[in-house]
Amino acid sequence: MQGGPGNNAAEAYCASCSRSFPLDVSHCPHDGAKLVRFEGAADPMLGKVLDGRFEIRAPLGEGGMGTVYRGWQLSVDREVAIKVVHPSIASHREAAKRFLREARLATRLSAPGIVNVFDFGQADGVLYIVMELLRGQSLDAIRVAAGVVPPRRVIHFAEQLCDALEAAHIQGIVHRDLKPGNVIILDDPPGRDLLKVLDFGLAKSISADATEGITSTNAMMGTPLYMAPEQIESAAIDGRTDLYALACIMYELLTGAPPFVDATLSALLAKQLHEPPPPMPPWVPPPLAAVIARMLAKRPDDRFPSCAEVRTALGQVRASLGTPAVGVPILTPLPAHAPLAAGTPPPGPSPTPLPATAEDDADVLTLMPLPAPSSPVAAGAEPPSSASFGAMPPARRAGLIAAVAAAIIAVGLAALVATGAFDARKHAEPPPPPSPPATGALVAPDPR
Ligand SMILES: Nc1ncnc2c1ncn2[C@@H]1O[C@H](COP(=O)(O)OP(=O)(O)OP(=O)(O)O)[C@@H](O)[C@H]1O
Ligand SMILES: [Mg+2]
Repeated sequence: MQGGPGNNAAEAYCASCSRSFPLDVSHCPHDGAKLVRFEGAADPMLGKVLDGRFEIRAPLGEGGMGTVYRGWQLSVDREVAIKVVHPSIASHREAAKRFLREARLATRLSAPGIVNVFDFGQADGVLYIVMELLRGQSLDAIRVAAGVVPPRRVIHFAEQLCDALEAAHIQGIVHRDLKPGNVIILDDPPGRDLLKVLDFGLAKSISADATEGITSTNAMMGTPLYMAPEQIESAAIDGRTDLYALACIMYELLTGAPPFVDATLSALLAKQLHEPPPPMPPWVPPPLAAVIARMLAKRPDDRFPSCAEVRTALGQVRASLGTPAVGVPILTPLPAHAPLAAGTPPPGPSPTPLPATAEDDADVLTLMPLPAPSSPVAAGAEPPSSASFGAMPPARRAGLIAAVAAAIIAVGLAALVATGAFDARKHAEPPPPPSPPATGALVAPDPR
């Protein structure tokens, strides 16, 4: 989840990836670029009361569709999250109507893994949707902080996402924009890794048969890293489209980068349409890799027919991994400069990111990580996993993976030779699994 200082507050801005940080951060944790001190104009939405019922209090973050604020529902005295749709979309009559239709459907979704939508409406030209305020980290933040996420934890996430998606799919609602930024891991209860999915169906509301103006917004919204072939081709969409996106997310959590990345949009879309995903690195259990590979099939008919089937398959993989070793923590603690949590504004006055600009469209691609490493990592090699790894520029991440793997092999061979245990037959076998770290500070994925 991206956040940032308030519109009227100074912030440290990354002109390379367009992220915002508190002023005490000097270099972008994502790409290393030097941050620029920036001060924006005051946000006129702050303090507004929509329909006499929902007071807008503080910004939480900005997305392709608009800005999300922390707010207050006056009638029942509770904190809420209010998404205010960008005026360029809200002023488009058909898009606004679609948004209202989708928002209405969203209010009917009720599942533990889906954010509760309380209300929606239009007040003084402001199109808004009111939701349960979630306190936690986005899956994106977890991935950036952890570098790679252990298979067992990824399965735990994916099972919950399957449940959430299934609940929507059986009501005929397809998410269409499932991505790590639209999934929040709740802080409470701590350590339970409970997920909530945001923005069900809303992408659809401003994407279909759009006008010129909306199309440009749409480019900003689109998340081509997680986009299924049928969505790119504007063919029929169903729940299997979300399964493809889920597989991209799982792949990214396990390896540090989504399966398909490229420097240009056209090349990326071509990969989504035609290329097989790069092979999974050796720390991903083959049965899990097989499930993901099937979810990533180009033709929806070749994927699992529904989330329920994926859930079952993941359960089997989990069972095959056995019981986790005692003392191996599931959670990977976040570093001090982790991305901002919803409901927990960054230090400093009135947190909020900058409004999206036309240039942001182009930034969609600059935010993409480079391809996950698909080769020279030894079987059984320990996956790279550290906060600094996650914050590293993607090209360096991929290089580091290869370097770490090579170092592991070299050290292993040296040890074998030194102890006289080297044997040509043993040489062909994978090295033993890495032993768990002594502390939970940087947790290596459980290789099983
Ligand atoms: N109900 C909520 N509770 C807490 N934080 C939220 C809630 N809804 C959204 N946010 C946060 O507000 C920020 C902006 O969300 P938004 O959905 O607008 O952006 P996005 O997901 O990056 O883009 P998109 O428009 O493609 O969904 C994100 O950091 C998001 O995690
Ligand atoms: Mg969102």
